[in-house]
Amino acid sequence: SKADIGVIGMGTMGAMLALNIAEEGFATALFNRTTSKAFGVRDDNPDLAANLHPEETLEGFVASLKIPRVVLIMVNAGKPVDEQIEHLKPLLDAGDIVIDGGNADFNDTVRRNRAMEGSGIHFVGMGVSGGEQGARHGPSIMVGGDKAVWERLQPILEPVAAKYDGVPCVAWLGTDGAGHFVKTIHNGIEYADMQMIAEIYGILRDGAGMAAPDMAKVFADWNTRGLSSYLIEITATVLAETDEETGKPLVDVIVDEAGQKGTGRWSVIEAQKLGIGATTLESAVSARGVSSRREERAEVEKIYADAKTHLPASTFKADAEGLTELEEALETAKIIAYAQGYAIMAAASLEWKWDLPLGVIARIWRAGCIIRSSFLDDIAKAYETGETVINLLQTPTFSGRVSKGQAALRRVVSKAALAGVPVPALAAALSYFDDYRRARGTANLVQGQRDLFGAHTYHRFDKQGPQHHIWPAV
Ligand code: 6PG
Repeated sequence: SKADIGVIGMGTMGAMLALNIAEEGFATALFNRTTSKAFGVRDDNPDLAANLHPEETLEGFVASLKIPRVVLIMVNAGKPVDEQIEHLKPLLDAGDIVIDGGNADFNDTVRRNRAMEGSGIHFVGMGVSGGEQGARHGPSIMVGGDKAVWERLQPILEPVAAKYDGVPCVAWLGTDGAGHFVKTIHNGIEYADMQMIAEIYGILRDGAGMAAPDMAKVFADWNTRGLSSYLIEITATVLAETDEETGKPLVDVIVDEAGQKGTGRWSVIEAQKLGIGATTLESAVSARGVSSRREERAEVEKIYADAKTHLPASTFKADAEGLTELEEALETAKIIAYAQGYAIMAAASLEWKWDLPLGVIARIWRAGCIIRSSFLDDIAKAYETGETVINLLQTPTFSGRVSKGQAALRRVVSKAALAGVPVPALAAALSYFDDYRRARGTANLVQGQRDLFGAHTYHRFDKQGPQHHIWPAV
């Protein structure tokens, strides 16, 4: 009998997804360039071996699949995906489905869709979130491609996906690059969320002078209320861990340089292209860049050692009042960050004609993915009231919370500024909020400047059409 699906690429994510699929009862063909790896996956998992079918050659792999074939590519994003498609294409027939389940740049996914047009082979760009454990036991899955193909994939992907209240965290989100685009924004939000948590950690460490194990308790406590989420949960776990070699908190022996593979950066680039202010995501990407220049920072610290701040860092207190203020500030900034992420998706949806189901996206992010939380259930509800949502900050679900919480965010950001504790993403959230909530901005001056030096024209409140002024010579 033939396999229901084939998985190419037995790296961590590929192998874990293949095991998950096999566990759900699907006959799963396996292929890896170094073939021994595919056999290893089967041999290391005797309980699932009956559903795992490694193949020696790509030809053998393709021949082992039920027609129409479903091939899931799980290789590194970029060139390896194009190479794999090149090798596969001559072996496939019209009606077959090729899925790229990696963290692809959605622009590549759109291009690959176009390249497949005319061949009758369907190309699906599929975002998968949840890391290794998610892939193995239930990730959040964001599917993009032909709608008709979704009906064929649904029976396999629904059992494989994470469940929230029994509802599978997988959906078809739109044509071509929609799935990978949404995954990219997921990661941009992930970066912002992580950065803001790290900023609060910085306040507790450098301001309140708290030790990591005590902070772990704070985050564990916050995880029982509004901030409850996977990222807050793992923050508590990371902070609670002790380094066996030194006996110190593990977080204190980890070098303060953050890595990044590109998806966060892409989310910001796309936001810029769409003209959406995604300042919290931008700050998070920038902060990773600054973090990676550690030696430079050490030099600059010396140069400004005597620069005076207005308040001592110890202005932050880890007493009940101080912690509540931080909790409220983080919650408020988080709402603003998610509103920005959703605004990017809303704009992209129009630009790319995807008609992205924003409420459904919140639903499939409630479990399985890295940013999973009950807060996403609130976002889903905000989109499902039947009212048109331009921006989450305009919805009654969030406007009340932001109105209340903004005072705490304001106090935290201003104290941090006066005490010299960096809070780039929290400050970005606050500034964006203040900018977005005022009817009259300051761009009139920018327009005046543009008209003066470049005759770029401006509009007047009291006249129609573009105006140009004859400015005095400067
Ligand atoms: C997920 C993660 C996952 C991975 C990213 C981000 O949703 O499961 O986002 O895709 O962790 O690659 O990694 P970087 O922080 O290295 O960019």
